[in-house]
Amino acid sequence: MAILKILQYPDARLHTVAKPVREMSGSVRKLVADMAETMYAAPGVGLAATQVDVHRQVIVVDVSEPRDRLVVMINPEIISSSGESVHEEGCLSVPGVYEKVQRAERITVRALDVQGNHFTLEADGFLATCVQHEIDHLNGKVFVEYLSQLKQSRLRARIIKRRRETL
Ligand code: NI
Repeated sequence: MAILKILQYPDARLHTVAKPVREMSGSVRKLVADMAETMYAAPGVGLAATQVDVHRQVIVVDVSEPRDRLVVMINPEIISSSGESVHEEGCLSVPGVYEKVQRAERITVRALDVQGNHFTLEADGFLATCVQHEIDHLNGKVFVEYLSQLKQSRLRARIIKRRRETL
């Protein structure tokens, strides 16, 4: 396994739309293992392949406290959603930034596991938020894009300034 490099906002590659996985090959299993290791090491609660510059529909999530409930979703698709909830979100691609985002409260997601078997996940609360956040990444969307244009441009300026200072 390996720790992968995580793209940092505002990197244009974060806006790439991921393609579905067609075949559950060894390279997909290696990607999943590396992504899980990268997420746990960060530490973070979720990671999408887009964030490690692999543009395939793969996400890993673990919102459990003991960090032992890894959810791997390949080609995830939200088949139903209901309600509204607002959680404060962060992202490994936007370190140090936490903002409230409104999303569906409950979702049902269909996906493939690493063996290529279909499964359905019903999620609510923080897990539902997390899965929606990661699926957004696969569609090329970073959570800060839910903020107003003004907030987004202030945020970009702050990040670029901070990066310059740490070089
Ligand atoms: Ni993220």
